Amino acid sequence: MSIFITFEGGEGSGKSTQARALHRRLLSMGIPSLLTHEPGGTPVGKGVRSWLKFKGKIVPSSELLFFTASRAQLVAEVIRPTLKSGTVIICDRFAESTIAYQGYGRGLALDLIEAANNIATGGLRPDLIVLLDLPVEQGLSRKRLKDRFEREEITFHQRVRQGYLEMTRKEPQRWLVVDGSLPKKEIEHLIWERVEQLLPKVRKNEKRG
Ligand code: TMP
Repeated sequence: MSIFITFEGGEGSGKSTQARALHRRLLSMGIPSLLTHEPGGTPVGKGVRSWLKFKGKIVPSSELLFFTASRAQLVAEVIRPTLKSGTVIICDRFAESTIAYQGYGRGLALDLIEAANNIATGGLRPDLIVLLDLPVEQGLSRKRLKDRFEREEITFHQRVRQGYLEMTRKEPQRWLVVDGSLPKKEIEHLIWERVEQLLPKVRKNEKRG
């Protein structure tokens, strides 16, 4: 059995940097690790990414279906095939991004999002979700070239942030909330402390295999 870890956060939260740092650390210790991201990670996902981030007007329900289509493809092509191999799978954004952005941000009904997410994931949930949390103004100020989401009004980003925080309160055991304004190395350390606790699962598996 593998460990499935996802990174979540608002714009400019530093989650991609931290996902890469964790991936490098695991590999340097000889622990198999796969790093992927959403939207993306497959040819379908790459198309969805460029379309959704940079092209014109898309209604919220269409946005939801594009993101979940990309997710369905990533789960089928990349994540599920890796799950049995004792690898740590790290995904930069996953189903909780859709709840935060299309649910809390765009205002689509949360039960619709849940249904679409379930179709895409077949019920697959992360073992750990790392949330890099920081005030939206701070995150947005780290971005230079702004895409369609980053150009949304500040209240949209505030709803996304509140959405994430609400999810962490509902299921605190599944989340690690880290202050995204801390120095990078400190964040890396806090994430590592938590990930280390999950690792014996992989190590035991390696011995068996
Ligand atoms: P990023 O991965 O570079 O942050 O870009 C992805 C953008 O897409 C980001 O603004 C968040 C947004 N997004 C959604 O709105 N819903 C989703 O389900 C996902 C995965 C991303």
